[in-house]
Amino acid sequence: CGIVARIGESDDAVEELVAGLDNLEYRGYDSAGVAVQSGCDVDVRKRAGGIDGLRNALATDPANGSVGIGHTRWSTHGPPTDDNAHPHTDCGGGVAVVHNGIIENYQELRSELSRAGHVFESDTDTEVIPHLIESAVADGAAPATAFRAAVDRIEGSYAVAAVVGGREAVYAARKDSPLVVGAGDSTQYLASDVPAFLEFTDRVAYLEDGDVVRVTPTGFTVTDERGERVRRATETVEWDPKDTGKGEYEHYMLKEISEQPTALGRSVSGRTDSARGEVTLDGFPPGAFDGIERVHLVAMGTSYHAAMYTESLLARRGVPARAYMSSEYAGSPPPEEDGTLVIAISQSGETADTIAAVRAARAERTMVATNVVGSSLTRECDDTLLVRAGPEIGVAATKSFSSQVATLSLLSERIRRDVIGEPSPDAEEFLSALTDLPDHVRQVVESDAAERVADAFADSESYFFIGRGPGHAVALEGALKFKEITYEHAEGFTAAELKHGPLALVTEETPVFAVFNGGADDTETLGNATEIRARGGPVVAVASGETPDLEETADRVLSVPSTHPELVGVLANVQLQLVAYHAAKRRGRSIDKPRNLAKSVTV
Ligand code: G6P
Repeated sequence: CGIVARIGESDDAVEELVAGLDNLEYRGYDSAGVAVQSGCDVDVRKRAGGIDGLRNALATDPANGSVGIGHTRWSTHGPPTDDNAHPHTDCGGGVAVVHNGIIENYQELRSELSRAGHVFESDTDTEVIPHLIESAVADGAAPATAFRAAVDRIEGSYAVAAVVGGREAVYAARKDSPLVVGAGDSTQYLASDVPAFLEFTDRVAYLEDGDVVRVTPTGFTVTDERGERVRRATETVEWDPKDTGKGEYEHYMLKEISEQPTALGRSVSGRTDSARGEVTLDGFPPGAFDGIERVHLVAMGTSYHAAMYTESLLARRGVPARAYMSSEYAGSPPPEEDGTLVIAISQSGETADTIAAVRAARAERTMVATNVVGSSLTRECDDTLLVRAGPEIGVAATKSFSSQVATLSLLSERIRRDVIGEPSPDAEEFLSALTDLPDHVRQVVESDAAERVADAFADSESYFFIGRGPGHAVALEGALKFKEITYEHAEGFTAAELKHGPLALVTEETPVFAVFNGGADDTETLGNATEIRARGGPVVAVASGETPDLEETADRVLSVPSTHPELVGVLANVQLQLVAYHAAKRRGRSIDKPRNLAKSVTV
């Protein structure tokens, strides 16, 4: 879910709230709503469905005000209906609340409030909050005190914001769910994420867990968990508001695929000295990883595939490493051992499962590789490494994967230097290939081969993806991208796994995308491709010019420029992003906002 608030003097809160919600829609699009303070009441408009539904509701029944809150929802409690849409109100209509997270004790609170005469209109956990505020106000508390009292009673994770009739202020709090303040001159903002208000201000204050904030048109005051006044400094963010728009592109996804050369340039620039085979990462000077004996990588979704990729980079550098899905790691963390470094990988820095994994880790040190400055994981972990991909809005992660792999390639080499005591034998070649990566990706983005492949296999039954080593991570990522935006059945396997079961699924109707790394292991993958061919399965090879005999083995070839075998996977992945994009476009799918998904899963 995404929340936004605007606290100003001019009467155009609704306009700015809707603009903010547009920028946050990637966090959920099951329903949307706004509430503005209007005299002694609050005025609420909300609808099931995306922001356009809300916009229509506002066109027929406008709302005006200078102070308000807004919400875009990814359903957890209750289906996506108008009633379950946020904001939620109390009985008297004087309090409205938006919330992101889960209130664990809501059933108990709801029973208690119902017994006291409060009537509930939705199935959501959120609705207890306005009623708690209402009941404290009825007992004589001022709104700020009533809000704090309500927050003190709820258990679970939340970013919550409230407006109260008659008050030119928004009251908000966070625990385990992101919330940032956007500081303007005579207008202030609050949101789950910076892009919501970036077009209005680039000065940001990151709230800490347990903070409660009161925001007025002229500024904000924060109290911590214990109710003591604390200062949260503002900083200027470097993102350009243009970066969060769609520009000339039809979809954010295509824009972000095309931005990969620039994003990769930022990830790598200033961080290598390829002539000397050295990596220079801010905050990680020589010796920074002394004493590290093994690395656990934790992540979900696309970031998990970047973790798998990194596992193979580290293993090849002699550093024991293992990638885990964060949820599994949180459930049963490996036993404590000296010298364990846990690296969380997360585009948003807010994924609840990954935060849980870091908290459960029995490790000497934790670090996060993330795209978002100031995100929760940066506060949770000992160290932060920024991947610098720039804002990513499309729900299907694209440029963040490439930038994660590039950044973690640098880190892997850096870790090897300390753990093994010397650079990889081919460090110079590897780092120079990383420097060339933006150019190589540009060549892939400019080719139209992926679109032709998407067209050729438009009517297939299922789509399979295979690879080994880094190519296995890319196969899984290729399948994930394909299924999430086309809604077709797609699965990834290690190339060798096929003949141990999944080959039974292969027919003429099931194209198999085979990812070749351009190294010694290609011979085996070629063998697997031949086995598929022999069963009638069409093979699409994704490979650089280094792989021999492809013409005889594959029905089609998606070529990528020749480069270091550990980086061919990044290029192959861009081809597979493009195949998924064109296949989804042909099918008329909702590419930027696939059904049932959200970009940041903070619950
Ligand atoms: C969600 C998104 C995925 C993303 C995953 C992890 O499931 O839909 O695209 O890869 O979360 O997100 P993170 O922000 O931690 O990388």
